[in-house]
Amino acid sequence: MAAVSYFKSAQRLITGLNASSELIVQMQRLGIRNPLLVTDTGVRQSGTLDPLITKINSALNNTDLNIFDAVPPEPEVAVVQQCTDIFNRGNHDGVIAIGGGSAMDIAKCVAVFAEGAKQQAVKIHDFFGENKVPARTIPLICMPTTAGTGSEVTNIAILADTENQVKKGIVSDYLLPDVAIVAPELTVSCPRSVTAASGVDALVHAIEAYISNFASPVTDALAIKAMHMIYHALPKAYAKPDNLEAREDMATGSLLAGLAFGNAGVGAVHALAYPLGGRYHLAHGVSNALMLPYVMEWNKLACPERFRDIAHQFGLDSKDYTDIEAADWVIAQLHQLCTDVHIPKGLSSFDIPQDALPQLAAEAVKVERLLRNNPRTLSENDILAIYQAAY
Ligand SMILES: NC(=O)c1ccc[n+]([C@@H]2O[C@H](COP(=O)([O-])OP(=O)(O)OC[C@H]3O[C@@H](n4cnc5c(N)ncnc54)[C@H](O)[C@@H]3O)[C@@H](O)[C@H]2O)c1
Ligand SMILES: [Fe+2]
Repeated sequence: MAAVSYFKSAQRLITGLNASSELIVQMQRLGIRNPLLVTDTGVRQSGTLDPLITKINSALNNTDLNIFDAVPPEPEVAVVQQCTDIFNRGNHDGVIAIGGGSAMDIAKCVAVFAEGAKQQAVKIHDFFGENKVPARTIPLICMPTTAGTGSEVTNIAILADTENQVKKGIVSDYLLPDVAIVAPELTVSCPRSVTAASGVDALVHAIEAYISNFASPVTDALAIKAMHMIYHALPKAYAKPDNLEAREDMATGSLLAGLAFGNAGVGAVHALAYPLGGRYHLAHGVSNALMLPYVMEWNKLACPERFRDIAHQFGLDSKDYTDIEAADWVIAQLHQLCTDVHIPKGLSSFDIPQDALPQLAAEAVKVERLLRNNPRTLSENDILAIYQAAY
């Protein structure tokens, strides 16, 4: 029997090819007259934003669109303060994020932080953890350019704490955007390596949500559809970046995966990936890809029937297999997919010394917020064994 569960999302979801043309209408609906556009240099230099910037400028009367494009990949806490200062100095009345998870997470933080920062009433550090944000009054629109983190529909923002070399999360329903516009055309300019890493991240969101201890019939439906779309579309989008059908499946699949994990949670893949990002600055999708097959090897005994469902979505006629054989087949496909999209294998390829693994395990075991979602419990020693297998 399913337990009572809540479902959270951005207030309005707009999807499909050319959905980016809806931005002006949504700005006007929310009363945004002087927005700050939050993005990064890679996205800006790709030219993908140019038509949108022209449209926004012609919709704004007598004000030029102000753009903050200094969000680095996997941004650190200090970037929130920089972007907030610009927001407050420009007397902006809304935040629009157009970028990957990094730009969207910064924009989400600015939208909940700017008001309090103006009155010097809060520090961004006060918001780390769960439900520490008091309110949000500033309108927020998110448009992903990767497929992706799903950040456009989650109540989470992830920041790097460089001092302590860890990644930290702010979890609050006030981070849920007013509007998420998921427009596949914005992802076409993604460099191949970004398509690969962010695509595997989206697949991990779907799989971890599906096997989560907090999965519900609602999140199951989303996760199943998401894993089907992403698994089949990712190699195509990687091989032919302008394949719009594959880009659309990736964009929508990533959105569905975001909705699934935003409610059911992610598990040990993300928990073990966090210290790799915090300490060795691996891209979020790459660190997830490195951990994915090895964590699934650990998880398969806890919920083999769920792995049979995953195998079915990946295309296996699973009647001829036992559940465990189907799980092994899924794990082999995950290895193959990461190879096909050229994500380097093994922690050793990233200059991570083998004697650092115990420290990584000591850090990962502290990520209780995610480990409690995982279908099979892990001790610090179990985590160390997984890092060793993935070395
Ligand atoms: N809030 C959440 O729910 C959530 C979930 C998962 C991950 N994250 C966070 O998101 C971040 C990773 O985000 P990401 O994987 O989307 O990558 P990203 O935003 O860090 O972008 C990676 C690189 O790709 C480039 N890029 C992105 N889109 C492009 C495009 N269309 N054209 C050209 N270049 C483009 C960027 O310039 C950047 O250099 C991490 O900090 C991670 O922790 C957040
Ligand atoms: Fe993720």
